[in-house]
Amino acid sequence: MPASKQRLSVETLRWKNGRLEMIDQRALPSEVHYLSYDSAAGVAEGIRSMVVRGAPAIGCAAAYGVALEALRLQHAAASEFSAQLEAGFSVLAASRPTAVNLFWALARMRNVWQNCSGGTPTQTASMLLAEAHAVRAADIEINRRMGRHGAALLEDGARVLTHCNAGALATAGYGTALGVIRAAIEAGKKVSVFADETRPFLQGARLTAWELAQDNIPVTLIADNAAGFLMSRGEIDAVIVGADRVAANGDVANKIGTYTVAVLAQRHRIPFYVAAPLSTIDTGIASGADIPIEERNADEIRGYGELRWAPQDIPARNPVFDVTPADLVTALITEKGVMRAPDAGKIGKLLEENPG
Ligand code: MRU
Repeated sequence: MPASKQRLSVETLRWKNGRLEMIDQRALPSEVHYLSYDSAAGVAEGIRSMVVRGAPAIGCAAAYGVALEALRLQHAAASEFSAQLEAGFSVLAASRPTAVNLFWALARMRNVWQNCSGGTPTQTASMLLAEAHAVRAADIEINRRMGRHGAALLEDGARVLTHCNAGALATAGYGTALGVIRAAIEAGKKVSVFADETRPFLQGARLTAWELAQDNIPVTLIADNAAGFLMSRGEIDAVIVGADRVAANGDVANKIGTYTVAVLAQRHRIPFYVAAPLSTIDTGIASGADIPIEERNADEIRGYGELRWAPQDIPARNPVFDVTPADLVTALITEKGVMRAPDAGKIGKLLEENPG
C-alpha cells in the first residue's frame, strides 16, 4: 500500500465535498475541530492566522488554495479567470514569509497552470486540483522516506529533544523530525522524546505533546529554558528539529529558539540533526543572513489567547524564527539520505543530482 494511503493518526488537511478542511491548530489540544475553505483568500488567512502551520503543511495548503480559487472561478471568462487566479497566487504568497515550501508549492502550481494554456478554465481547475492532491500525497511519502534514513541515526533507548512541532501537524502527515522518531520506533527501537514547550506560540506544548501522545510515543514536556540543564546532566542523547528554509550553504531557519538549542548541543557534544525535504532547500539564498524572518504581533509575547501576563503596552519583539549556522548541524536528513556536516558543496551536488 502506498505510504500516502496508510492510516494517519492525525489528518492535518483533507479534501472533503469539494472543499479543503484543515485541523484548527490554534485550538489544540483542548479542542479538535476542522475549518473548511473554498478560496485562496480563505486559505491565505488560515496560513497567516496559524490554523495551519509548519513549512510542508503550509506548502500543501497553498497548493489547495490555488486549486480552490481555480474551481471557484471555473465558469468565468478566460481573462477574468486568469486575472483572479493571479490575485489568488499573490494573496497566498503574502501570507507568511519564512517557510520556502509555500513559494515552492506556488511555483509548482504555476507550472501546471502554464502547461494548461489553451485549456478551458474548468480543465485548468481540474489539473490544479490533481496537482494539489499530488503535493499532499508526495509529502507523506517523502516524510516516510526521510524517517527511514534518519532512524538509523538514533540508538535504541535514545532520549531525543525536539523544538517546535515538526510532526504530522506540520506536514501532510507523519512529520519530518517526528517522522524520524516514528520510523525509529517502527524499526523496533525504544525512543523517548523531550518536547520543548516552544514559546511563544507553544507548538511543543500544545502540538508535539498532543500528537505524540495520540500515537503513544513517550513524551516529556519541558520549559524551553530547561534544555541546557538536562543536557548538562546527560539526559539528552540527540536533538532533531525540522526547518522552514535551508540556505545554499546549509544554514537553517527554524522556530525561534532552535539556534539556542544548537549552541547548547554543541557545548554538550550532542548531535544536532535537521530533518527537511528537498523542497525546504532554497539555493537562491546564499546564507542564513538573507532568509526573511517573520516578526509577528508582540501580543503573542505578552500573553496567550485571552490570558495576558505582561503590562499591556510594554514594548516587546516577536521574531518567530532564527537561523542556525550550518557548522552547528551534525547532519541534514532529507528524503535522499543523510548528509553529514552540510555545506554549500554537498548541498549543490545533492540538488544537481535531484533537480526538481
Ligand atoms: O511558526 P510555525 O509553527 O509555522 O513554525 C514551524 C516550524 O518552525 C517547524 O519547525 C518547521 O516548519 C519544520 S516543520 C516540518
